[in-house]
Amino acid sequence: MNFVVKGLAGKRLHGTIPVFGSKNACLKAFAAAILTSDPVVIKNAPLIEDVFRMRELLTSLGAEVVNNGRVFRVVAKNIKARALEDGIAKSLRASIVLAGPMLARFGEVEFSYPGGCVIGKRPIDLFLDGFKKLGASVISDKQGNRFKVKAKRLRGANICFRLMSVGGTETLMMAATLALGRTILHNAAQEPEIVALADFLNQCGARINGAGTNTIIIDGVKSLHGGIFETPPDRLEAGSFAIMGALLGDKLKITNCDPAHILSVIEYLESMGANIKKGETWLEVTRAKKLQSVNLKTHEYPGFPTDLQAPFAVLLTQASGTSMLFETVFDGRLTYLSDLNRMGADIVPCDAHRAVFHGPRSLRGREVDAPDLRAGLAFIFASLVAKGESIIHNAYNIDRGYEKIEDRLSAIGVNIKRV
Ligand code: UD1
Repeated sequence: MNFVVKGLAGKRLHGTIPVFGSKNACLKAFAAAILTSDPVVIKNAPLIEDVFRMRELLTSLGAEVVNNGRVFRVVAKNIKARALEDGIAKSLRASIVLAGPMLARFGEVEFSYPGGCVIGKRPIDLFLDGFKKLGASVISDKQGNRFKVKAKRLRGANICFRLMSVGGTETLMMAATLALGRTILHNAAQEPEIVALADFLNQCGARINGAGTNTIIIDGVKSLHGGIFETPPDRLEAGSFAIMGALLGDKLKITNCDPAHILSVIEYLESMGANIKKGETWLEVTRAKKLQSVNLKTHEYPGFPTDLQAPFAVLLTQASGTSMLFETVFDGRLTYLSDLNRMGADIVPCDAHRAVFHGPRSLRGREVDAPDLRAGLAFIFASLVAKGESIIHNAYNIDRGYEKIEDRLSAIGVNIKRV
């Protein structure tokens, strides 16, 4: 499936766009459900492809998963399998977080190298080292493609992450909830999704302190009971829509969000001249008459999120002057820039992490391929700025993270069709 998007030709986006539940928070709640045989209820889940893949993965392990709209009920009582189903795990990077709960509850897990990421083969060394520090044995095949991790019962440990990892922090935090004794995670990631997960686990009987700071202390307990996870609003969606407002908004109102989770994004947009009003659960964004250039550097939370780097790059093509973009979290996350150049942008790549933008430049509609969900959304934004029509292939990648994006964009004045 593709999206066909018409340029706005000088029009502005106006109206209200709602934010749905956080993909990255919700996926981890599904994984956490493996830690208990009791029912876990996940509310406000986004109905996106990555959530559907996670449901398939849990079902293939033997869990019961039913949903009524956005409310999912997971019962991981009769888990017979010990191996994560290859086909699904290979298409979903987040599948690796399941390894922690599986190991903690059943003492054993087997999985293949996770895929599902255009950034390439992303490392999992922090997960494997963490499992070993918790007392597990890790056996891999010769090629390092398949792993068997075992431990009768995990033991609490002092673990310092060499670099901050969201998935690594979440996985080891979940595993440690059922370990014998105390685990301390140093240099832990601090994303709001980690706080949401820790709060949920504590509600289920875990003893976790310090989530949201860089030191998390987990005192292991014998077992966890069920609970209710209320998925928080997706800060990456909110940030994406705020960028769209700074690009093309005329009092574009973004609702159901938590502006406190995207302070660095708001700061960058305001420094470029965007006009932003904010309440507790909403933002209203209007484009500046003239967007100023800025140097962007992505950073772990609470810095500017790497996931919003591609949507923000479209904004840089429209800013007056020279901007520098510096991606510090991932390698290989700038390959989509060549397509922005094909649309008329003036971007000079410096190396795998940096690029210089000269702007503003007029863009032209083109046929492009959505390489991942964030760059896919960036291409929709670029198509709105561009003259004429664009075709964005591989809508699936956008559907992985943004629910019914075409309906929400149509409601604020975008001409977008799924074909
Ligand atoms: C999560 C988010 C993703 C976001 C990213 C960074 C989910 C489902 N995805 O991904 O949207 O872009 O956080 O905010 O929540 N690394 C290693 N070894 C490891 C693990 C990671 O070197 O074992 C490196 C990665 O290559 C990367 C950095 O650590 O350079 C951060 O990655 P990480 O925070 O782990 O990303 P994810 O949890 O996969």
